[in-house]
Amino acid sequence: MADEQAVRAEEDTVAVTIENRIAWVRFNRPEKRNCMSPKLNRQMLKVIEELEFRDDVGVLVLSGEGDAWSAGMDLKEYFRETEAQGLWAIRKSQREAYRWWNRLRWYEKPTIAMVNGWCFGGGYGPLYACDIAVASDDAQFGLSEINWGILPGGGASKVAADLMPLRKAIYHAMMGENLTGPQAAAQGLVTESVPHAQLKARVTEIAEALLKKDGHALRATKWAVRRMIDMTYENAEDYLIRAQEALHSYGGVAARKEATRQFLDEKSFKPGLGTFDTSKVKD
Ligand code: ACO
Repeated sequence: MADEQAVRAEEDTVAVTIENRIAWVRFNRPEKRNCMSPKLNRQMLKVIEELEFRDDVGVLVLSGEGDAWSAGMDLKEYFRETEAQGLWAIRKSQREAYRWWNRLRWYEKPTIAMVNGWCFGGGYGPLYACDIAVASDDAQFGLSEINWGILPGGGASKVAADLMPLRKAIYHAMMGENLTGPQAAAQGLVTESVPHAQLKARVTEIAEALLKKDGHALRATKWAVRRMIDMTYENAEDYLIRAQEALHSYGGVAARKEATRQFLDEKSFKPGLGTFDTSKVKD
């Protein structure tokens, strides 16, 4: 039988739909449970870079076609076939994967992982890269590397160590047992988990809330939180002063003045209870 993977063109390994300023980007190899091949990794970088600077995109959602989010790296195309070609081919493939995960970690726009099903190993790279992660209750998360005799590389061990309590991370990596959506949420791997039927509605609700906020402040905020992870308190304090000042150079002053006016003068919103009306900001 013809291998579907062999016939799927590189540009068909990722699907995109844009609706109301939300870009729904999907791993698109459902017949291979959306595992990441070199072709998919190259296409994903192209797609997300193209979306990043478009005015009609305010939030990016990453999900998977079919019943998987991503079954991790492609054991055939990413590992076996690449390894057969030697070290440079391995390094090239690694770079193609890491490059788009890195782009996504420092994306200009808010990103949400909508984890609709299987999420294994290398899938933890893009999972971590997304700012917010919402899982379906019946999604399955696994560091399955140990089950086939490797360690969780490609950043996956680091993701577990960064996001999960240490005891949970070590157990997760050593045992190769899967976590459900609610377990992944309880252990910090995802932000929250919801019944599958509510997954898209909940992600849409979060995306729409983000779209109402000031985009410059959102970008500065998510980058600041990520930068804080390995900074001393003193360095963080200083970084945040500089980041706030930089934000002022890119629309921040106007947004802040308008928000302050709406709160203090117009009394039309309370920052503790919701977001200001960004449509009134004058550039
Ligand atoms: N690499 C290569 N092919 C894969 C992968 C993968 N990671 N995952 C699934 N596939 C392929 C299968 O070989 C199969 O191909 P075929 O139709 O040509 O036989 C097809 O996708 C469908 O997979 P099934 O196993 O039949 O699907 P099922 O729904 O029964 O099981 C599951 C899904 C549990 C995700 C299973 O496919 C699996 O265990 N995949 C591997 C998960 C994994 O360990 N990923 C690697 C982590 S390590 C790393 O990323 C560094």
